[in-house]
Amino acid sequence: MELNELLAIAKQERSQAKPVQIRCCTAAGCLSGNAEGVKHELEAGIKAEGLEKDVEVSGVGCMRLCCQGPLVQVDTPAGSKLYEKVTTQDAFAIIEALDGGKTHISEIDLSQPFFSYQKPIVLENSGKIDPEKIQAYIAAKGYQALYHVLREMTPGEVVESISHSGLRGRGGAGYPTGVKWATVAKAKSDRKFVICNADEGDPGAFMDRSVLESDPHRVLEGMAIAAYAVGANQGYIYVRAEYPVAIRRLQTAIHQAQRLGLLGSQIFESPFDFKIDIRIGAGAYVCGEETALMASIEGKRGLPHPRPPYPAESGLWGHPTLINNVETFANIAPIIRNGADWFASIGTEKSKGTKVFALAGKIRNTGLIEVPMGTSLRQIVEEMGGGVPDGGTAKAVQTGGPSGGCIPASAFDTPVDYESLTNLGSMMGSGGMIVMDDSTNMVDVARFFMEFCMDESCGKCIPCRVGTVQMHGLLTKLMQGKATQADLALLEELCDMVKNTSLCGLGQSAPNPVLSTLRYFRQEYVELIQEYLELIKD
Ligand SMILES: Cc1cc2nc3c(=O)[nH]c(=O)nc-3n(C[C@H](O)[C@H](O)[C@H](O)COP(=O)(O)O)c2cc1C
Ligand code: SF4
Ligand code: FES
Repeated sequence: MELNELLAIAKQERSQAKPVQIRCCTAAGCLSGNAEGVKHELEAGIKAEGLEKDVEVSGVGCMRLCCQGPLVQVDTPAGSKLYEKVTTQDAFAIIEALDGGKTHISEIDLSQPFFSYQKPIVLENSGKIDPEKIQAYIAAKGYQALYHVLREMTPGEVVESISHSGLRGRGGAGYPTGVKWATVAKAKSDRKFVICNADEGDPGAFMDRSVLESDPHRVLEGMAIAAYAVGANQGYIYVRAEYPVAIRRLQTAIHQAQRLGLLGSQIFESPFDFKIDIRIGAGAYVCGEETALMASIEGKRGLPHPRPPYPAESGLWGHPTLINNVETFANIAPIIRNGADWFASIGTEKSKGTKVFALAGKIRNTGLIEVPMGTSLRQIVEEMGGGVPDGGTAKAVQTGGPSGGCIPASAFDTPVDYESLTNLGSMMGSGGMIVMDDSTNMVDVARFFMEFCMDESCGKCIPCRVGTVQMHGLLTKLMQGKATQADLALLEELCDMVKNTSLCGLGQSAPNPVLSTLRYFRQEYVELIQEYLELIKD
């Protein structure tokens, strides 16, 4: 494959585009509402009406306002309409209204803050292109960044560009991506690996799944660029078995890229070879932790082990390994295409670019959002999310999943970036964002996350294995109104001990939801104790 061949595919794809496009979301959320049936009815209707010459029906990835799905977008030369909660019976009405007429189906206002505040970089193709068609990705400038690095940049220049962009890992900790790539690039070894971490186990999080379902080639291209930069020839995508649509689309994408010579041997007729295989995880949360994940790929039990050595020095089968999150890889091609300065100009001083969040919980608009770093929580919750339904008020936002914390409404003016969220006692995490309203009991929230960590603890080290059980027991006792002041003191002591002595991030961060709710909602703990005191007084 040469550049002119790539551009020819793009040109042909664009020239074949029909004037009217009907796009049906076929990501998991809408599929669960029978989006496939809706698409089928639309295709059949267009055929029956003899409109195939001018109208194209396609399946696309997530259109973001998942709570209103199945979504169908109709683009005609006169403008765009986004229909919500579309059923198979609605297909005929949509076809009838293609000439600009009205339907009985509710339309979503595309100018509302939920859409207008978004800055799609990672999600730029999501909801627009057919994820099962490599030509559609190529027509959206796909694989041009890979061509550019292979033909016009040295591996060192690629690493330098990623460092200069300020990109930080989107898997949770925010480690600078360029520094990680430089470490793997410098490591001396005849074999190196690149791993894409698509384990995504945080409750409420579905960003990575959505990226893989909506635009899988973007992740493959990012991995291939990374592999060239660090000197690896083999990649793995570790994805959980609960994501069958993502897995199927990844398999299709890998197959298509191999057939066009965009993966495999001598990519773009350069000396660079790179192959990607999928490894399916069985759904253990701890397998998202990088050392446990690598053990799982090696065919061992998914248990974490102490670092150092870090994967960058000694990873898969003892070889230097680059491991990045799905969203991290999804940012790579746009950085190469648009330049590191462009990326660095978005966001805050220390957190560059955008972040994708899965907005969920007690909020009107639930779905996927991609916002520039530095957007305030208030903008996200109140404007984009549309606030709490049924007249309730937002009490807190939980970010960072079981490792994160609860941020009170009084801190909603905080800009979303790595440092600010950590200073508030939470963390960016991978992008789960759960809104809680004033009916939520924060001790119960802490108990929920502790139960998750207790269930998911691999049991290798005692502080986490035993400590999470003890802490969960104390939180349950509190919820039952049976705890004393001494129990609360013990809970705080245990938080400290588990945080400081656990082997891996799961145990080290398991106390965070307790600590953050104690920090901002201590009164709720105290009230539960008072209840007990009142009870025994009587
Ligand atoms: C318990 C635990 C679970 C994790 N789960 C994930 C996950 O699902 N996806 C992910 O990308 N990183 C996860 N991480 C972080 C990874 O260990 C690793 O830091 C990350 O994949 C690095 O990629 P990045 O630099 O692009 O963020 C988890 C960490 C811990 C401690
Ligand atoms: S901290 Fe928990 S999950 Fe991590 S190794 Fe120890 S027992 Fe396993
Ligand atoms: S899954 Fe259809 S809009 Fe998100």
